[in-house]
Amino acid sequence: MTRLSRCHDLADMREAARRHLPKGIFEFMDRGAERELSLAENMAGFERLKLRTRFLVDLSERDMGTEIFGKRIAFPLAIAPTGAAGLCWYQGELALAKAAAAAGVPFTLTANSITAIDTIVKEAGKEAGGRLWFQLYMWKEEDLSFQMIERAKKLGFEALVVTIDAALGRTREYNDRNGFTDPISLNPRFVMDMARHPRWVAGVIGRYVMNGGMPRHENYPDKYRRRITTAQSKGPANSHSMTWEGIGRIRKAWPGPLVVKGILSGDDARRAVDQGADAVVVSNHGGRALDSAIATIDMLPEVVKAVGDRATVLLDSGIRQGSDIVKAVALGAKAVLVGRATLYGIAAGGQAGAEKVLALFATQFEKNMGYVGCRRVSDLNHDIFAHPPVQP
Ligand SMILES: Cc1cc2nc3c(=O)[nH]c(=O)nc-3n(C[C@H](O)[C@H](O)[C@H](O)COP(=O)(O)O)c2cc1C
Repeated sequence: MTRLSRCHDLADMREAARRHLPKGIFEFMDRGAERELSLAENMAGFERLKLRTRFLVDLSERDMGTEIFGKRIAFPLAIAPTGAAGLCWYQGELALAKAAAAAGVPFTLTANSITAIDTIVKEAGKEAGGRLWFQLYMWKEEDLSFQMIERAKKLGFEALVVTIDAALGRTREYNDRNGFTDPISLNPRFVMDMARHPRWVAGVIGRYVMNGGMPRHENYPDKYRRRITTAQSKGPANSHSMTWEGIGRIRKAWPGPLVVKGILSGDDARRAVDQGADAVVVSNHGGRALDSAIATIDMLPEVVKAVGDRATVLLDSGIRQGSDIVKAVALGAKAVLVGRATLYGIAAGGQAGAEKVLALFATQFEKNMGYVGCRRVSDLNHDIFAHPPVQP
């Protein structure tokens, strides 16, 4: 039996990922900041919301599809940008992008990816049936960020996602303990960790080495694009001085849908939309930046009230099952983004693993949508909750 054939739900996928990856990489991908209160709260927020069933409704014809930026997606989900995908699997970003295309949902490529942006576009872009969004943090050297935006525009990315909630990085005491750094440095603790995971070394690092050399952040500007070696090679520093006016400047440079990711208040949502954003992602970075943040599902109604009539509202952080998507959509999100879930999938089995995770979400979403008496996504609203959340 393969690793993947033993995975029947997301918990199995996570366990397969935990076994396969060096501990440092698994923890980097799976864990949250500091005491991991935000990470736990994101999931607890969904768990607190109970659904009201409605039976004996004619559900013979159901439709999980919805529209985002004027085009149909198979169900209300997109894959979030995640920097470590290329360490979970050889060219992990490509595996995710292909899985998203196969499932009929968008994929977001981070500027921090290990797989080059051109490869993603060539193999999983429009011509291959994919919908690609591009995400970046604004760098201190702003001109480099604008060159990156220009490149994404020329390559035909559909939407630009600007992440605003993690410029200061995060404290990762567990990674100090296990020796993992991003990018990788070959310190004794991490070398020992890799030695305990020979299949990962052969399947991931070995394949990079066979195909050109140790992994590196392929999209970084030339002066930062170094091979991962014993010395820690840092990428460009994030800007710590950008303000909302910066979003306005990005707006001028990007003609397509502009998404601001990392919104946790109605006020910030309004500021983003006032600067020209077409969409906002209610997100706390999966509990990886600020600890003690509010659960995103608890903040969603405030953001929908603030900008729901002017912009597309998306949500991420804590999506682990189909009913989470049902709840987010019922509270006004157009769709959700998933980060860790599909990373577990690729770590367990590459593209096929991510496809299995997406299929799991789709099946659970469809069933739960039916159990609350809804035939289509637009039927989902506050009435599906046993105790509807108090409106802001
Ligand atoms: C390993 C990892 C790397 C990430 N890298 C990025 C990134 O490069 N850019 C970004 O905007 N968000 C990044 N995120 C945050 C995700 O886009 C998303 O907000 C978060 O994972 C959602 O929470 P979830 O993992 O509970 O689904 C990363 C998340 C993880 C788990």
